[in-house]
Amino acid sequence: MTLSPRPRAFLCRRFTPAVESALRERFALQVNDDDSILSSAEIARRAQGCELLFVSATEAIDAATIAQLAPTLRVIATLSVGYDHIDMAAARAAGVQVLHTPDVLSDACAEVAMMLLLNACRRGFEADRLVRSGAWAGWAPTQLLGMGLVGRRLGIFGMGRIGRAIAVRARAFGLAIHYHNRSRLDAALEEGATYHATLDGLLAASDILMIAAPGAPSLRGTFNAARLAMLPEGAVVVNISRGDLVDDEALLAALRRGQVRGAGLDVFANEPHVNPGYRTLDNVFLSPHIGSATHETRDAMGWLLIHGVEALARGETPDNLLS
Ligand code: DGY
Repeated sequence: MTLSPRPRAFLCRRFTPAVESALRERFALQVNDDDSILSSAEIARRAQGCELLFVSATEAIDAATIAQLAPTLRVIATLSVGYDHIDMAAARAAGVQVLHTPDVLSDACAEVAMMLLLNACRRGFEADRLVRSGAWAGWAPTQLLGMGLVGRRLGIFGMGRIGRAIAVRARAFGLAIHYHNRSRLDAALEEGATYHATLDGLLAASDILMIAAPGAPSLRGTFNAARLAMLPEGAVVVNISRGDLVDDEALLAALRRGQVRGAGLDVFANEPHVNPGYRTLDNVFLSPHIGSATHETRDAMGWLLIHGVEALARGETPDNLLS
């Protein structure tokens, strides 16, 4: 791939200061200064003539946008491991290369997964609210009893880099790891986890379900009423992947019945919209898509994209190249 000596680049969101100054040093950078979420039409208009487009998971990069930018566009670099917001077939057809940010965010995402898991099992939202409200009348033998973790089964759907980072942490809490994945892991990576060849098999064996698979159109609505009913009574559901994998109405009904005892959700269908039903339930712990949100991780993600562009310009194939 050839790039101009100082290629024009459009930055759709504000990246960390360190990453933005590195981008400015290398490229003729135009920035969406107010950090708003731009529509695809707006991106197609504002990034005209750019060779590089830096996006995040909030921007839908569809076939029409790629077609409009294709005459000059060489690389789409997304500050995310997920790339379900990019029309990959259109990028491939237009000869546009796509970079993403695997690995460097796995630990940060696994930390948030554990935060959600712990809060859902140990009733973190209700506990915090009780203290803040001033209504706490002191310790009581039966107050806010939750679900202990030791000896429970954690069923991980999607045992990629993030799923495995979650398993490492979950083992330390005494959870037994079960998983379903497109293919079974090697024994060294499996580390004694129990593989289920089918998702249905995993669900039946999950006291806590951890959804950690990458987002993909084919997975939309995977966790529907029928699937959630396969979980043991009183299971916990955690979603660190993409909101649209879960049928919200089905999960809400299961939470209201108590068939699902609690949920921890970091991702939602059609963000920043959140199904209002979740806000009404005490047994749901909510966070605003902060899986990779640490200073170090966001810097590392930005640098991975910069190094990826530099490698492409040298004619190399960086590990974070998707197409
Ligand atoms: C990712 O990296 O895909 C996270 O969900 C942030 O978008």
